[in-house]
Amino acid sequence: GVSPIVYGIENIFKEDLELDRQLKLINKPPVKTIHTEHGDIVDCIDINKQPAFDHPLLKNHKLQEKPNFQRPIGKISGKKLSDRSMFGFDKHHCYKGTVPILRTTKEDLIREKNLLNNSIFVKDISGVHLAEIAVSSKFGPYFSINANNIVYNPTVTKGQMSLSHIWVQNGPINTNNKISMGWHVSPELYGDYDTHEYATWTSDNYHRTGCFNLRCPGFVQTHSGLHLGKRFTNVSFYGGPLYSFRSSISQDPLTKNWWVGIQDFYIGYYPAELFSNLGSADKVGLGGRTSTAPGSPSPPMGSGHFPGNFFHSSFFDLIFVQNASRRNYGPEKYQTEHYLDKPKCYGLKYFGNLHQNVGCALQFGGPGGNCGD
Ligand SMILES: *[C@@H]1O[C@H](CO)[C@@H](O)[C@H](O)[C@H]1NC(C)=O
Ligand SMILES: *[C@@H]1O[C@H](CO)[C@@H](O)[C@H](O)[C@H]1NC(C)=O
Ligand SMILES: *[C@@H]1O[C@H](CO)[C@@H](O)[C@H](O)[C@H]1NC(C)=O
Repeated sequence: GVSPIVYGIENIFKEDLELDRQLKLINKPPVKTIHTEHGDIVDCIDINKQPAFDHPLLKNHKLQEKPNFQRPIGKISGKKLSDRSMFGFDKHHCYKGTVPILRTTKEDLIREKNLLNNSIFVKDISGVHLAEIAVSSKFGPYFSINANNIVYNPTVTKGQMSLSHIWVQNGPINTNNKISMGWHVSPELYGDYDTHEYATWTSDNYHRTGCFNLRCPGFVQTHSGLHLGKRFTNVSFYGGPLYSFRSSISQDPLTKNWWVGIQDFYIGYYPAELFSNLGSADKVGLGGRTSTAPGSPSPPMGSGHFPGNFFHSSFFDLIFVQNASRRNYGPEKYQTEHYLDKPKCYGLKYFGNLHQNVGCALQFGGPGGNCGD
């Protein structure tokens, strides 16, 4: 027989070949490569050859370059809650006809295997906790949610994740179709403890689908400067300046594709073909989530402070949704449902409309700790 050592080496060799094979599928030949000041490698890929088009459901997909709507929300005039700045845009853009895609390395693939199989988006899983509101299905269906998301950098350890997001969803639990976008800290995904912008989708409640960013084909990137997985160069901190970005998920009225927006830009979209049941959203919502290995303490959520002082606790403001009227309006308190599974660790407070420059606002988050499963 083969000696165990030779067998072991052969196995490692096989795994290596398999990783190389995966990388070749994920990383398309770049037209140009950008090395960012933070050490990320961003490849500019022909827009028609991006990973999304490897998806079997997108074989006949017609690329949509721009949404068939204006910015989802009009400018709010006057001084805002804070002198919020945006995270720095990269100075480098890809050429016209190409789109930026974060390069995946072998180390990324190896590290990601340690991402807990239990998705942070699935309810009632030990180690996963949430502080969110949903706008009730009683007043739907919905076609857009957008809100101003304050960016923090909660301290997590290996194997943990902490996020702040907006989402749209539809369907019974087993075939839940959902899109979530926002920021998160995930050492397994990025190999660092920085805050990154992300988006993710599922058509089966994160059973077989549900990768982040471009790890599985699906998201069609259209913007030439902003990419999924982007690192925030500046984050808010307790008592310090606040950094935020307007985030949106909106359905295109003609193509039914779901566009993901940041500030005044659209990064790209999730094609309608990917979903089994997202012709509209029966619920939309927002808030925070954390995950940790079952039985271990949970990381902080948001700023790490409970709702209370507006400048200490994390919050969303200028929250708008669109129902079948396709007009933006702020959800009333009575239209919302609250999901807070560990009030000892996190808090949640929805204010409804505070008027002036804040509009509808939600506070959420807390220190985490020994929350119990
Ligand atoms: C995740 O699930 C896959 C397939 O069931 C398994 O091979 C892998 O070991 C699991 N990973 C972890 C970290 O539990
Ligand atoms: C981000 O922080 C750096 C260093 O503190 C600062 O120089 C820069 O101006 C900040 N950027 C923005 C957009 O505020
Ligand atoms: C949408 O919501 C607005 C504000 O609550 C309401 O006036 C309108 O009737 C709703 N439209 C539909 C079609 O439900």
